[in-house]
Amino acid sequence: MNNQQDTSPVWFGNQRVEATEKTALVLDVFNSVAHKYDLMNDLMSFGIHRLWKNSMISLCRPNASQHILDVAGGTGDIAFRLLQACGGQQLMQTKGGTITVADLTQAMLEVGQKRAATKGGLHSIEWVQANAELLPFQSQKFDLYTIAFGLRNISRIDDALKQAYRVLKPGALFCCLEFSPCALPFLQRIYDLYSFHVLPRLGQLIAQDQHSYQYLVESIRKFPTPEHLLDKLSQAGFRHGQYYSLTGGIVAIHTAWRV
Ligand SMILES: C[S@@+](CC[C@H](N)C(=O)[O-])C[C@H]1O[C@@H](n2cnc3c(N)ncnc32)[C@H](O)[C@@H]1O
Repeated sequence: MNNQQDTSPVWFGNQRVEATEKTALVLDVFNSVAHKYDLMNDLMSFGIHRLWKNSMISLCRPNASQHILDVAGGTGDIAFRLLQACGGQQLMQTKGGTITVADLTQAMLEVGQKRAATKGGLHSIEWVQANAELLPFQSQKFDLYTIAFGLRNISRIDDALKQAYRVLKPGALFCCLEFSPCALPFLQRIYDLYSFHVLPRLGQLIAQDQHSYQYLVESIRKFPTPEHLLDKLSQAGFRHGQYYSLTGGIVAIHTAWRV
C-alpha cells in the first residue's frame, strides 16, 4: 500500500494550486456567496436545480429509520428534501432515523439552520462543520451518503470518496449529483456562452461577487467525466456504480453501493 501523501497540485477553477490552498479559496467563495446562495441557484438555473435535486432524492429512496449523511450540504436543500421524503420529522423521530448535514463553510450551515428554524424547527437535522476529506464520524455509521454540487469543490476527490466508503455501512448507498463537463454537442455552445458570459455577471449583480461565480463555472469544466467518476468510485471500493445524465448531460447523478 502507498502511504505517501499526495502533494500534487489540484484545479481551483482554471488555476493549479496546492490542495490546502484550494480548500481555503473554496471556503472564501462560499463565505462570500452564502447569503445569496439560494437566490442565485434559482436565478442561474431558472429553478431547474430543484428538479435535479428531486430526481436525486427519488433515486436514493430514503426512509425514516435510516441514518443519512448529506455532505457539502450547504444551506440544507438536500436535507429538507430528504426529511420530506422520509415522511417528516415526527416519523423520523418515531423510527429512529437521523439526518446529518456536513459542510466546510460555517456561513452556509448558518443559512441552513435559519431556514430550518423558519420551517418549524427541524430537530431531526444535525448541522456539522466538517471537511469531506476527513469526516468526524465513526466508521459504518450511515445508511445513505448524499452529496449535491459538492464534489467538484473538494480538493482531493479520491480522499472524499474513501471517507464516504468508510462512514457508510455495508450495503449502504452513495449518491452524488454534480454538474458534468460534457453536455450534448448541440447544447455545448449555448451553455458555454451562458456560463462564461452571463453567470459571472449575474453573480456580480446579485451577490456582488463575479470571481466566485467565475470559479464555479470554471470548476464544472475541470470535473471528471461521468465515466471517470465511475472509475474513481470503484477505486474507492464502491461497487455497481451507475450514472444518469439529466438535461442533455448538464448534470449527472451517480449511485454506487458500499460492499
Ligand atoms: C455548490 S454548494 C452545494 C450546496 C448544497 N449541497 C446544494 O446542492 O445546494 C457546495 C458546498 O460544498 C461545500 N464544500 C466545499 N468543499 C468542501 C469540503 N471539502 N468538505 C465539505 N464541504 C465542502 C461548500 O461549503 C458549499 O456549501
